Amino acid sequence: MKPPISSSSVLIRKARLSPYLLILLAFIVFVTVLYGQDFMWIFSQQLQLYADQGQPVSTTEKKWEKLPFAIGKTQEGCDVFSGSWVRDELTRPHYQESDCPYIQPQLTCQEHGRPDKEYQYWKWQPHDCSLPNFNATLMLETLRGKRMMFVGDSLNRGQYVSMVCLLHKLIPKDEKSMETFDSLTVFTAKKYNATIEFYWAPFLLESNSDNAVIHRISDRIVRKGSINKHGRYWKGVDILVFNTYLWWVTGSKMKILLGSFDDEVKEIVELSTEDAYRMAMKSMLRWVRNNMDPKKTRVFFTSMSPSHAKSIDWGGEPGLNCYNQTTLIEDPNYWGSDCQRSIMEVIGEVFSKSKFPITFLNITQLSNYRKDAHTSIYKKQWNPLTPEQIAKPSSYADCLHWCLPGLQDTWNELLFAKLFYP
Ligand SMILES: *[C@@H]1O[C@H](CO)[C@@H](O)[C@H](O)[C@H]1NC(C)=O
Ligand SMILES: *[C@@H]1O[C@H](CO)[C@@H](O)[C@H](O)[C@H]1NC(C)=O
Ligand SMILES: *[C@@H]1O[C@H](CO)[C@@H](O)[C@H](O)[C@H]1NC(C)=O
Ligand SMILES: *[C@@H]1O[C@H](CO)[C@@H](O)[C@H](O)[C@H]1NC(C)=O
Repeated sequence: MKPPISSSSVLIRKARLSPYLLILLAFIVFVTVLYGQDFMWIFSQQLQLYADQGQPVSTTEKKWEKLPFAIGKTQEGCDVFSGSWVRDELTRPHYQESDCPYIQPQLTCQEHGRPDKEYQYWKWQPHDCSLPNFNATLMLETLRGKRMMFVGDSLNRGQYVSMVCLLHKLIPKDEKSMETFDSLTVFTAKKYNATIEFYWAPFLLESNSDNAVIHRISDRIVRKGSINKHGRYWKGVDILVFNTYLWWVTGSKMKILLGSFDDEVKEIVELSTEDAYRMAMKSMLRWVRNNMDPKKTRVFFTSMSPSHAKSIDWGGEPGLNCYNQTTLIEDPNYWGSDCQRSIMEVIGEVFSKSKFPITFLNITQLSNYRKDAHTSIYKKQWNPLTPEQIAKPSSYADCLHWCLPGLQDTWNELLFAKLFYP
């Protein structure tokens, strides 16, 4: 509105000098009123233009600019996590399984005999906007002199490996390495002085499942208030990506240790999954507030990764699972029975109160449609299969983890979108 008003106020001052100008002013006012709508329209177009060019006009629009690494913003009102899968044989997959030597044998489905590649050709299309193309150069340049770290369980490890696969092609062979030290795996891009790391902490807090190799413990115990046990290894990281979910789902109450794992007589209380999970989320947020700088660093949290262990959930033949599934679930409201909505509610509740800007990657719904994308039986088997298992492949299919390339590359496309265009 400013330009028309200020120019007519100049005219008012001049009008005192000349009745001729007064008539001219009356005429201008008349025209302004007559075409007011058009002025408004032209002006709102200009505002729109400024917003598009990254010169936001209001403080709410400015918010994203304060986030480190942001170079633009996602279209107003577009929820990038709400959309559908579209077939794309031109730009997918982002890489070939055989071209990424960092994929662990639990996720190399082709190498382990998966007969189809259908699961590699899907692209996520949000309903109200398009995702920016994953630009590996931009991502790697952004990581120059920096550390990016994924913290959580084997599903987060999958997303970590996907990120490494998406970037490693840009780095010559002798200028990169991948090493593991206990709970920490570090991919180094030497000339970039950049690392992409994974830290095993399936509960984020200290637990009796913290051994990165031997952690299959049925009687899981998590120690209250113990986030620093692992958190000291996350200090100094520039981009942190957390997840935690699967290990909390035990089918019964969660055992919470009040003292220390070294106590002879352990003081243990039992909490509902939701209360235990809330406790861990709050600990994580406290750690983030105390150790991360919102002006220089970014923190992401990836929501629950769904499983597909019960074919009746999607109206399939009873007693089966993700084994031999090559098509997507088409019901837009599909939600697997293994996926606890109450945990999603806890996440929503805890984040809505967070003072630190944590970026939430809500990948649950979009992954729920992907019963075709699991590793199923096409992975390295640690123990020889029994004749009973061989006779019934669904009995040993892995319906938790995801083949690479595949679904988890999309999680990283979403991470990319939220990192640069929050
Ligand atoms: C990717 O990012 C780099 C570095 O910012 C830029 O030079 C390049 O033009 C981008 N590529 C595409 C296809 O947008
Ligand atoms: C390399 O990156 C680290 C942060 O990850 C930084 O502390 C260090 O100064 C960098 N070194 C060089 C030579 O740039
Ligand atoms: C896999 O599913 C197809 C139908 O989609 C079916 O014809 C075939 O028999 C199934 N294979 C096995 C081994 O169950
Ligand atoms: C994540 O997305 C699902 C489905 O779109 C929605 O029901 C849920 O509320 C979202 N979670 C949060 C914490 O926003």
